[in-house]
Amino acid sequence: MSIKSIILIPDPILRVQSSPVERVDDQLCRFLDDMLETMYDAPGIGLAAIQLGEPIKVITIDVSPREHEDDDENGVDASDEEQEPDRNPIFLINPEIVWQSETPRVYEEGCLSIPEYFADVERPDACRVTYIDRDGKKQELEATGILSTCIQHEVDHLNGVLFIDHISKLKRDMVIKKFTKSARQADRKFIG
Ligand code: NI
Repeated sequence: MSIKSIILIPDPILRVQSSPVERVDDQLCRFLDDMLETMYDAPGIGLAAIQLGEPIKVITIDVSPREHEDDDENGVDASDEEQEPDRNPIFLINPEIVWQSETPRVYEEGCLSIPEYFADVERPDACRVTYIDRDGKKQELEATGILSTCIQHEVDHLNGVLFIDHISKLKRDMVIKKFTKSARQADRKFIG
């Protein structure tokens, strides 16, 4: 397993429409493991393949509370073995949202491709999603709360949509401008 680098805005690849996966094979499973490790390392609760530059319809999610992330102040450095019991990953291949509730829910969202930026986003509170799991089996899941928000956020990624597309244009333009500027500064470092 390896930790890969996460693509940031304004990279245009984040706007690419992802294609369905045709076969769940060893190569895909290895990629899923890399995605999961990258997501845990970030740390984040969801990741779409396109954020690693792969335009395929694959999502990893784990919304279970992971206490070890706050252990730093105690000087506790939990090993991988100790972290495992907290983990409850879900792999969604070719996810499709087939139903969304009428009731909205506002959640302060962030995104690993837009680090350290958070904004309130309103989405349907509950949703139902069909997908293929990493054993190649068809599954259906009804989600509410944070899991529902996370699924909708990640499925958006597969369609080239970012959470900042759900906020005001003024706020969106500001955050894109900020990231465009820092991307330019990072480029300069490579040249100089
Ligand atoms: Ni995101």
